[in-house]
Amino acid sequence: MVPVQKPLIYLNNAATSWPKPPGVLAAIAHSLSLPVFGSGRTTGTQGDDYLTLARDRLSVFLGGAPPENLVFTHNATDSLNILISGFLAEKKEECHVLTTALDHNSVLRPLHEYEQQGRIRLDIIPFKDCSVSPDAVQDSIRPDTRLMVMTHGSNVLGSAQDIRAIGKILHDHGIFFIVDGAQTAGHIPIGLKDLPVDAFVITGHKGLLGVPGTGGFFLRDPETIAPVRFGGTGTDSLSLLHPRGMPERFEIGTHNYPGLAALAAGVEFLNETGLATISEKAEKQTLFLIRELKKEENVMIYNDHPDLPIIAFNIKGLQNDDVGFMLARGFNIIARTGLHCAPLLHKAIDGGEGCVRISHSWFTTDEECRIAADAMREIARNADSTVGQA
Ligand SMILES: Cc1ncc(COP(=O)(O)O)c(C=O)c1O
Repeated sequence: MVPVQKPLIYLNNAATSWPKPPGVLAAIAHSLSLPVFGSGRTTGTQGDDYLTLARDRLSVFLGGAPPENLVFTHNATDSLNILISGFLAEKKEECHVLTTALDHNSVLRPLHEYEQQGRIRLDIIPFKDCSVSPDAVQDSIRPDTRLMVMTHGSNVLGSAQDIRAIGKILHDHGIFFIVDGAQTAGHIPIGLKDLPVDAFVITGHKGLLGVPGTGGFFLRDPETIAPVRFGGTGTDSLSLLHPRGMPERFEIGTHNYPGLAALAAGVEFLNETGLATISEKAEKQTLFLIRELKKEENVMIYNDHPDLPIIAFNIKGLQNDDVGFMLARGFNIIARTGLHCAPLLHKAIDGGEGCVRISHSWFTTDEECRIAADAMREIARNADSTVGQA
């Protein structure tokens, strides 16, 4: 007899969101249904200027960033590399740089590469109760601290960081502040206009409901970052040097315009649905899932009060990847297990063993949460608590 497949429940939205709103899929199909025109280069009248559309929508959505200060890249990792390497290219001498133990490898690895090359001295600020305190940042500042790069929202603990207070301290010391908003954009309001950050990084395929291969950054003062990639822009083409105006300064080659059409549609969906409505529903589901998981004594939840729809846990007596396997095989539930690209965070919370992460989205139903909670509880109840991780 062929086993009946249970309906798929997707709880891995912090990795990449799924499903996408119907308008996002339609926008991609529409963008590819006509030859693309725009930017004054290709003759023709049909087609939309998806770049401008996405830039304008995002600039309003992120809280008043001037559209020309929004740069499109491949993803958050690409943005962080451009910003970090471009900032250091402007600094001729070795300097001191700060980041945090909450951060993702897309921040940690570029910084460690530059540390190994002797370009920077790096200090990692620890977190307590899922947060990096502004006081800890203040205490870590040295006379030659020039840069801090940190996440806005932890991709494991789901905790939003107080980047306003931290940014104020850093700016009082003239320190450049790059914030990784990969997990927060699309979940909580950003308010870029008066936020004390110099650069804010986004990715298109998570909370903004677009597709992989899209992302970008907001940069307050373009002159602070040297361009590190050069090529065709379709503008000023007689010049053999790359244009320095925004956003061409950092944008090279042919854009992923179907992806940007999707991003514009994702932002439109968020605007129409309303961020407050989305986060209210997410919060209710988070509280429900945590309340249910807590009913099992052998479940360890690493943050009881996440700000984002992310829940990290382990079940005593089981390896996290075994829990993921059981969820997938037994219940058709997609979670994520392992180290989540945040090695320092895991060393602090689970001895570097990793954990199970579930992350829901606007499209997750209450019924799916109930089924997932029952499944996780059943696995916990059946766990042999004499083996495996503590
Ligand atoms: C906090 C954080 N930063 C950066 C990234 C990298 O995003 P991307 O894969 O879009 O480059 C992720 C993705 O998992 C993330 O969670």
